[in-house]
Amino acid sequence: MPIVNRFAELADEITAWRRDLHNNPELLYDTVRTSAMVAGKLQEFGVDEVVTGVGKTGVVGVIKGRNGGAGKTIGLRADMDALPIEEETGKPYASQVSGKMHACGHDGHTAMLLGAAKYLAETRNFDGTAIMIFQPAEEGGAGAQAMIDDGLMTRWGIEEVYGMHNYPGLPVGEFAMRPGGIMAAADMYEIVITGRGGHAAKPQETVDPIVIGSSLVLALQTIVSRNVDPMNQAVVSVTQLVAGTAYNIIPERVILRGTVRTLSPEVRDQVEARMQELVPSIAKGFGGSATLDYRRNYPVTVNDAERAGFAAEVAKAVAGEGKVDPDCVPMMAGEDFSFMLEERPGAYIFIGNGASADLHHPRYDFDDAAIPFGCSYWVKLVEKAMPIAG
Ligand code: NI
Repeated sequence: MPIVNRFAELADEITAWRRDLHNNPELLYDTVRTSAMVAGKLQEFGVDEVVTGVGKTGVVGVIKGRNGGAGKTIGLRADMDALPIEEETGKPYASQVSGKMHACGHDGHTAMLLGAAKYLAETRNFDGTAIMIFQPAEEGGAGAQAMIDDGLMTRWGIEEVYGMHNYPGLPVGEFAMRPGGIMAAADMYEIVITGRGGHAAKPQETVDPIVIGSSLVLALQTIVSRNVDPMNQAVVSVTQLVAGTAYNIIPERVILRGTVRTLSPEVRDQVEARMQELVPSIAKGFGGSATLDYRRNYPVTVNDAERAGFAAEVAKAVAGEGKVDPDCVPMMAGEDFSFMLEERPGAYIFIGNGASADLHHPRYDFDDAAIPFGCSYWVKLVEKAMPIAG
């Protein structure tokens, strides 16, 4: 059962939508034109309900199956926002807005979910309800959380959620996913160490915060090497050490900054807890003091094992057995679909985008050849998750 034939017919139309979106990128919650385009298309397809303004500029489209929508309800999500990057692809469909670019392929995600909505509204070969979720502000604005706060899960009774992201480096026509953590929690921290400054020739009269900071840099490495289970993954990086003004002065204060990446909520809690213990106690041991400001960004994107297995079966039905990696290597970048997966079980998968420049790069290029694969995945997912009874 390869790609759905209808998407070979619709490919040019969907590609035109994608390129129109690419021409007109919008950032964060300012997806006004994009949201209006999405809502207009959904109405044109004859979906059962179109609701705008969910989580500021999010759009929800409701498609009921043959049985009038009774039974299961699943949500399919696409993100709509672009990035503050000056495009360098030189493509005819390149951004027409200076300093803004769809450099993460969210234009492709939106177009593919619209294509799936068109097909599902036409055919309705399922029993249940499919909710099309178009969210703003994935790139740092937590648009998924805004839609959840606006009642996304409860207003339409969503029981499972699915997401998809294009993946440069994975050939077009291939898919990858894994059970458990697939995208990392990407947290930041700042440590302020206070000692007692003074003349560098009289260290006995000072409390040297540089020595405290240096000890802390080493101590923080032991969280990964000595505390986290070697079978789990974590990154603790110190990326800034701000200290001192001259060769003969011991400063009063030192600042350390860095990032923590983890792939499970338990390890995330563990790393933060160890930092809370080490930072003040090491500073105290040297006679100084230190505070830790740990800032949690997007959580870990955790795939439900059963749904990730189901997503792999659907992807195999579309792409073929050898074109799906059901246990891929996770990515240590963050993703705000994590908020939706905290609310409901589901799966987030990668779809091949071929040999493009990487995500968030000025020469990144969404490959329109991936569109029939992405659309087919979405509609097969709905039809297999909610098959027509009898
Ligand atoms: Ni993205």
